Amino acid sequence: MTDEELIACARAARDKAYAPYSRYQVGAALLGADGVVYTGCNVESAAFGAGLCAERGAVAQAVAAGCRHFTKAAVIASGKGICTPCGICRQLLAEFGADLEILCCRSDGSYVRHTLQTLLPFSFDVGAME
Ligand code: THU
Repeated sequence: MTDEELIACARAARDKAYAPYSRYQVGAALLGADGVVYTGCNVESAAFGAGLCAERGAVAQAVAAGCRHFTKAAVIASGKGICTPCGICRQLLAEFGADLEILCCRSDGSYVRHTLQTLLPFSFDVGAME
């Protein structure tokens, strides 16, 4: 799976986003260790706080399918700037591995490659609760 192929999956998900309030459509694609691509788009609500980010939608789809290991992710939105996962999404992604490579894209498909470790150093970890 090339970077471009994964980004194409994220873009296809983005085009299904339900974002009537922000008008900012986001798509995410997670490449599972099982070789399957799991996708999500943002889903907004008139009760704003009930909305869901694309990344967490993709994680939910993967986990529900039995996949908890990811090797690469792509995030793409409708705006001109680079879309990076929000803080809550970073924390949820960190649950499944800090080594995750994330392709943070502009709407034209150009991207910057980050690792989750770079985007969320010192993430909260279950070890802290021991
Ligand atoms: N959004 C995402 O889906 N992912 C992010 O990482 C950033 C923000 C969505 C949430 C909301 O529907 C819209 O973008 C504007 O914040």
